[in-house]
Amino acid sequence: MQKKDDFVVTPWEVAGDVDYDRLVEKFGTQHITPEQEKHIEKKAGAKHFLLSRKIFFSQRDLQAWIAQAEKGDKVALYTGRGPSGSTHLGHLVPWLFTKYLQDAFGCNLYFQMTDDEKFLFKDGLTRRQSHELAMENALDLIALGFDHKKTKIIIDTDAIKPLYPLALEVSKRVTLSTAKAVFGFTDQNNIGEIFFTSVQSAPAFLPSEELRNETGNAKANVPVLIPCAIDQDPHWRITRDVADKLGYPKPSAIHCKFMPSLKGAGKMSASDPDSSIYTTDSPEKAEKKVMRAFTGGRATIEEQRKLGGNPDICSVCQYLKFFFEPDDKKLAQRFEDYRNGNILDGENKAYLAEKVKDFLKEHQRKREQARKVVDKFLYAP
Ligand code: TRP
Repeated sequence: MQKKDDFVVTPWEVAGDVDYDRLVEKFGTQHITPEQEKHIEKKAGAKHFLLSRKIFFSQRDLQAWIAQAEKGDKVALYTGRGPSGSTHLGHLVPWLFTKYLQDAFGCNLYFQMTDDEKFLFKDGLTRRQSHELAMENALDLIALGFDHKKTKIIIDTDAIKPLYPLALEVSKRVTLSTAKAVFGFTDQNNIGEIFFTSVQSAPAFLPSEELRNETGNAKANVPVLIPCAIDQDPHWRITRDVADKLGYPKPSAIHCKFMPSLKGAGKMSASDPDSSIYTTDSPEKAEKKVMRAFTGGRATIEEQRKLGGNPDICSVCQYLKFFFEPDDKKLAQRFEDYRNGNILDGENKAYLAEKVKDFLKEHQRKREQARKVVDKFLYAP
């Protein structure tokens, strides 16, 4: 009998202890190959720890996109955010990697803020609130150092115009039974939710569409690569299915894992504010969260000295791995010391807390500066 998975990953729900290899199988994606990794590193002129640590681990047609870029053809990046609340550190992971890719390949980034999606899917969230959150979340993106000349933020309810014709084309070619099979929709879903995937598909075709309008060449293509967390992949399955029929290149994708919760296994939960650190948390508040985090330690200090801890289940160690210890050697050393019982939880937490506080102070400063330039980033066709 087939083993039933004890985790769920859909664009709207992530629960349980995710088995990423199983997910690659289930979604029909591929692992990133060592050749692809080397290729990207060479182009970038530097490694990225998110790649070397296999936090970015899966892909669709990555090679095709890289090959186009190498040929000197125009390519683009596309990613996004569903503004349902404040940005937390886990959200920044794919954005940081997108920045690395953009710097490496020198291409434009289209960033979609799906305030429409979050309005449709989140009980109690008004349109006004999700729009406000989109504007606030945009500051976090800009704070990471993106260049407005190469980066356009599309807030759906403000800038739907260029997307709408593309969304229509997509929606005409996706049946309700496909949407049910891919997303698990039932008769209880509202009809906006069912249509929404076509809005998320649209930016994958927008760069080609723009170039066609610009050049008058109806066959011009701009292949798109989508860096994102793996939960978004079902959308790309649909997008890729219809791309051929619409005469656009299939988008490529590169997927990352979820930053673990500070409370232990499972993704960060938006409903428990202590399970993650928000970019707007005061450094003191963030420090308290770190000091209360779930660790891989033992019941007593003596035991931990003698038997050591487990960094793989320790959220403090995982925060260092996903975000705060970019140096591979230092991370390996720390994990070993933790395993051997040379580093105890108190010290490990204090080490992380310092890094978190430093990051937040700097990010919050840049985030406030971003308010002055946010308009320059907004997509206005
Ligand atoms: N649906 C995504 C979310 O809830 C937002 C999004 C839109 C997105 N387009 C994207 C994410 C492209 C990654 C890549 O977060």
